[in-house]
Amino acid sequence: MKIIAGNWKMNGTPEENIARLRGIKEAVKPTQNKIIVFPPFLSVPDAVSVLADSDIAIGAQNCYPRPDGAFTGEVSVTMLKGVGCAYCLVGHSERRQYFAESDDFLREKVIAVAEAGMIPVFCVGESEEQRENGSYRRVLAGQIKNVLSGLKLEKEEIYIAYEPVWAIGTGKTATPEDADETMGMIREILRDIGQPDDLYLLYGGSAKPANAEALLSRKNIDGLLIGGASLKPDDFAAMAAVQL
Ligand code: 13P
Repeated sequence: MKIIAGNWKMNGTPEENIARLRGIKEAVKPTQNKIIVFPPFLSVPDAVSVLADSDIAIGAQNCYPRPDGAFTGEVSVTMLKGVGCAYCLVGHSERRQYFAESDDFLREKVIAVAEAGMIPVFCVGESEEQRENGSYRRVLAGQIKNVLSGLKLEKEEIYIAYEPVWAIGTGKTATPEDADETMGMIREILRDIGQPDDLYLLYGGSAKPANAEALLSRKNIDGLLIGGASLKPDDFAAMAAVQL
C-alpha cells in the first residue's frame, strides 16, 4: 500500500474543481493504494459530495488550531472534521515561507488536527541553499524535533511529507536515491526523539507520472504528495495506479 496525495494549492474556481473532481473520480481505478485529495477550502464540500461513493479521501490544506472562537477569517479543525475531512496538511513550506508559520504554531496545529480525529500530514523540507551547504540535516532535525518531540505519535495517526523546497514546482525532482537517503535520515531523527521510526513518509517535489514508480520503489518512501501533476486527472490517476 502506498499513499498518493494531491495538493491542489490555490487553484480552480468551485466550478472548475467540480469538473476536476469528476475527472479524478472517473480516472482513478480501484487500487490498494490510499488516495487523498487536498482541494482549496471552498471546494472541500464539493469534494465530499462528488467523491461520496468512492474510496478517495479528502483533506484540507490548512486549519486554525482552535475548535471555534473569535479568529476572523480562519477555518477550525472542528469545521474541517465536520465537513468530512480526514486529513490536514500542516507546515507546508509555502505556509512557512509566505505566512511565517513558526514551529510552535505548527506544533499546535499538529496537536489540534490529531485531537479533532484527523491525520496531520506534517511537511518538512530544506531550501536549495541548505541542501548545498550541507546544513539540511540540521534543518530537518530542527523542524521535526521542535514540532514532534514529546508527542505521543502512533503509526496510523500522522504522516510526514518530505518536500525539499528547491524541488517544489521547479521540475527539479530529488533523485530517488537522494530522497530515499534523506528520508532514511528522517527515520533516524524520529528515533532520536523517541518517536516510532516507521511512520508513513511521503515525498513531494515535482513528482509526476514519469518518476512516480522510481520514487515509490524506494524503501523509505511510502507515498507521494503531488502538487502540479495532481491537477490533471489523468496524471494523478496514473500515479494512483502504481502497484508495488
Ligand atoms: P509540485 O508537485 O508542484 O512540485 O508541488 C509539490 C508540493 O508542494 C505538494 O505539496
